[in-house]
Amino acid sequence: MPTINEILNTMEYGPAPESQKEAQAWLDQKGRQFGLFIDNAWTDAATGDALFASNNPADGKELAKLTQATGDDVDRAVAAARRAQPAWQGLGGHGRAKILYSIARLMQKHSRLFAVLETLDNGKTIRETRDADLPLVARHFYYHAGWAQLQDEEFANHRPVGVVGQIVPWNFPLLMLAWKIAPALAAGNTIVFKPAEFTSLTAMLFADICVQAGVPAGVVNIVTGDGRVGEAIVNHAGIDKLAFTGSTEVGRLIRQATAGSGKKLSLELGGKSPFIVFEDADLDAAVEGLVDSIWFNQGQVCCAGSRLLIQESVEERFLNKLRARMDNLRLGSPLDKSMDIGALVDPVQRQRIHGLVESARSEGCTVYQPAGCDIPADGSWFPPTLITGASTSAAVAQAEIFGPVLVAMSFRTPPEAVTLANNTVYGLASCVWTENISLALDVAPQIKAGVVWINTANQFDAACGFGGYRESGYGREGGREGMYEYLVPVSEDARPAAPVLAAPAKAKAAPATTDAFAIDRTAKLYIGGKQARPDGAYSRAIHGADGKFIGEVGEGNRKDIRNAVEAAHKATGWTKATAHNRAQVLFYIAENLAARGEEFAARIGAMTGAKNPEKEVQAAIERLFYWAAWADKYDGLAHQPPMHGITVALNEAIGVIGIVAPNESPLLGFISLVAPAIAVGNRVVVVPSEAHPLSATDLYQVFDTSDLPGGVVNIVTGSADELARTLASHSDVDAVWRHDGSAAGCAEVERLSAASLKRTWTGGAKGRDWYSTAQAGGRAVLAHASQVKNIWIPYGV
Ligand code: NAI
Repeated sequence: MPTINEILNTMEYGPAPESQKEAQAWLDQKGRQFGLFIDNAWTDAATGDALFASNNPADGKELAKLTQATGDDVDRAVAAARRAQPAWQGLGGHGRAKILYSIARLMQKHSRLFAVLETLDNGKTIRETRDADLPLVARHFYYHAGWAQLQDEEFANHRPVGVVGQIVPWNFPLLMLAWKIAPALAAGNTIVFKPAEFTSLTAMLFADICVQAGVPAGVVNIVTGDGRVGEAIVNHAGIDKLAFTGSTEVGRLIRQATAGSGKKLSLELGGKSPFIVFEDADLDAAVEGLVDSIWFNQGQVCCAGSRLLIQESVEERFLNKLRARMDNLRLGSPLDKSMDIGALVDPVQRQRIHGLVESARSEGCTVYQPAGCDIPADGSWFPPTLITGASTSAAVAQAEIFGPVLVAMSFRTPPEAVTLANNTVYGLASCVWTENISLALDVAPQIKAGVVWINTANQFDAACGFGGYRESGYGREGGREGMYEYLVPVSEDARPAAPVLAAPAKAKAAPATTDAFAIDRTAKLYIGGKQARPDGAYSRAIHGADGKFIGEVGEGNRKDIRNAVEAAHKATGWTKATAHNRAQVLFYIAENLAARGEEFAARIGAMTGAKNPEKEVQAAIERLFYWAAWADKYDGLAHQPPMHGITVALNEAIGVIGIVAPNESPLLGFISLVAPAIAVGNRVVVVPSEAHPLSATDLYQVFDTSDLPGGVVNIVTGSADELARTLASHSDVDAVWRHDGSAAGCAEVERLSAASLKRTWTGGAKGRDWYSTAQAGGRAVLAHASQVKNIWIPYGV
């Protein structure tokens, strides 16, 4: 009896082309030249060199010409968006919901035209644009019409950010447009949007839809062009928030360029996502999942499962099945409905992929490509490719190839699979294939990635947030968390214009002691649960409000921060502990602080000259109770997207957070930042108030008697600037919070954070009323302390 593959191999497919007539007619109707869409009107198309071509990747032929926007154009688009914003916000949730709903309906009505145009412009198959991109686009607008309707109720005490700049790549041109534009509009923002230069055409068609749907002038503005236009948007002073999807390299540049600007930022960047197959997986289903994972959109997918990790016992069998399946993948005209693999977006990408594959070959890797895969003569194509024999550090195993190239490796045990999965700077997505639910649910939380698909791949839905860990960026698109990216708590507007207390002028020296036997009472550092002398063996004198010397603290340096980060990294037990346990420890810290309340009040009084220092101690105790209360109530969600299954959204700790505490309210400010961070399972390295550090160093004994495990809170006193710089440059610190009122210091933290794309939460030069729960509490703080991981669990399919 012939096998199914043998039968398939003998079958012939007839051509099944989708008509491109309507799409070509639409381009003709537009004269195949486009200006910019500003204030609901088209500018004249540019002339000469300022026009650039958009080509069909499948045959290299030109489809239309687009305008390279200038700085002035971006100015005009931003000005239009600014003018339109108050009325758009003022329209109210229902008014915006109706317009979003109208967009969704029109997208559905014209979905075939959009699908064909996208296929022509991008090279991806019609099967994908028709069955994946377009339904998801419509779903996104429907879903966000719903959030607009519910905004007053579900996002009370928040306002839109204002004018947002949105920059997207070429791999999902229209879907990325929807992911960006729908939530921004729902929340009441106005938009300057830039499509990628290779693929702007569906955005041009979308502009027509905006007009038809009744989007008011200036609410959506679309400017075309290359990275220079992106830069003009990024650097524009009139932009309040930037949302970017694209390469990690450009994401880093954007983080640097916006440092200190106060612009809100979300980055969805690259990936090298693991696809883990355990020996008890349904191997045939896993092969199909892999096809969807790495050959979907020619592998030009940020969350492509590009690293196959197979359990050694099934490696041979699985790879044989995979190669047989690859032999049956059909590559060819993207408009042919029976094609699996279309064209790459541009010859530049083919060159890049080719270079990476050839370097792997020259390093001795085995490269498998189906023998019968005919590459068309014109256009830009790459066959499905499997690389085996690569070392874990090889370029093909680490770099985002962004093409139809899979790199396979094996592992022996589940812990080894997790280690290999996490052996990457990225953390966007991952797949876990096993029939053992307890293994799947044990492994999923251990993978450092924003999405885990269990026994499925590349599932998306508007209700389920999407976004990365580590160098895959931050911020989420979709879900409730995606809406917060386009909102600001109104309590932020109520913050004092400046910190209540400024750091004192240069510290003076301690008075010389004449007593040879005097005990040295210099407060040491607190690292790994132990008091530690500063590495540099220097200390600094602390003076009270009356200018008198009141004590000394250690002068921490780079080495001390390194030791503290190492101790924090070792304290993983805290992250794994139950939320109930963490809550108990926080309550206990509060109790022990209360027992020594008078002593702390006296210390605060001496440091700051506060008239009623007991008030601050009381507030600190209450704040500890507050975050203890939250610790076991910050639950995730169970989404029910349109698949048979659930998506569990977990609020996970970020890891190790570096904190620079404020000078104002030195005890309350310190507690208000440390407690929420550790409540959700982070470990912290804290630089207490530079001016008034003694109430933090007095906490050592409180921590020691409160069952707080060593390494969860580490305290390094000294220069806020120097220590913040070290924290922000440290590659093993996952986030830095700076709240000491230093605008330049906050800007520096943001700039330095770009190297490893760590998350930041900075207060800038403004103050914060640490007594106010609205300003120093709530879910907004918890969101800074956590990241959402969505675990997709299909069942019954
Ligand atoms: P890119 O990151 O340069 O482009 C993405 C968008 O950013 C485009 O709209 C582009 O015009 C714009 N842009 C470029 N430079 C900019 C700047 N300095 N400031 C603001 N905006 C800027 O990606 P590109 O060059 O298209 O592809 C290069 C590589 O990046 C790919 O081979 C792939 O590895 C990776 N990539 C990853 C994506 C992802 O979703 N993870 C998407 C696209 C590319």
